[in-house]
Amino acid sequence: MTETSYLHSVRASYDAVAVDYARLLGPALAGKPLDRAMLAAFAECVRGDGRGGAVADLGCGPGRVTAHLDGLGVRAFGVDLSPAMVAVARRSYPGLRFEVGPMAALDVADGVLGGVLAWYATVHTPPGELPDAFAEFTRVLAPGGYALIAFEAGDERRRLEHAYGRPVDLDVYRTPPALVAALLTEAGLTEVARLVREPDADEDAPQAFLLFRKPTTAPEGGLVL
Ligand SMILES: C[S@@+](CC[C@H](N)C(=O)[O-])C[C@H]1O[C@@H](n2cnc3c(N)ncnc32)[C@H](O)[C@@H]1O
Repeated sequence: MTETSYLHSVRASYDAVAVDYARLLGPALAGKPLDRAMLAAFAECVRGDGRGGAVADLGCGPGRVTAHLDGLGVRAFGVDLSPAMVAVARRSYPGLRFEVGPMAALDVADGVLGGVLAWYATVHTPPGELPDAFAEFTRVLAPGGYALIAFEAGDERRRLEHAYGRPVDLDVYRTPPALVAALLTEAGLTEVARLVREPDADEDAPQAFLLFRKPTTAPEGGLVL
């Protein structure tokens, strides 16, 4: 699959599985205490920033994590490439905002968000395309804003032709956490924390969670965080 065509396949595949994905993944965070801990830390960091910037849940799928963030007191909205996923999210969480769009070209002004979340949303992005997405994360984050990225750790590309009971046409990338961290750093973000946990019974790879922050603008002669 070429890097230019992957967005079409991702959109079509998730359009096909949206309803089944939402049904099967709905309660999945309940059995993942460490994942919830990273989301809670992210939410607390964003809230603690005190500026009240919204959080974009990029690749939000059916909106389950957007809603989880909302429950943690964060002003969250979702963006996804797949119109069917966005339709499911809007039906499931009518009080929240969901938009269709690619994470590397957001309809968001520069420097306004308190946080960006990519929760298993970069896993179909070829590693060579990650710098464009991460540059966009940096562009939309306010100084001091946070980025949390969750993905499968490893170093391989897998083909997925069936998922959630339907045919799909997807590449799934497992990526070394050190590579993702280096790319986020090159994009201008600073590492705050990382967690790599062992796979649960329903997983077959370690899971990585990287928390990064956009540096605050230094006053004249001052320190940059
Ligand atoms: C594995 S699902 C994760 C969904 C959601 N974050 C969750 O945890 O339930 C990946 C989602 O990312 C979306 N996605 C993948 N690449 C994207 C991109 N470049 N821009 C926007 N959304 C994307 C897909 O449409 C899909 O809904």
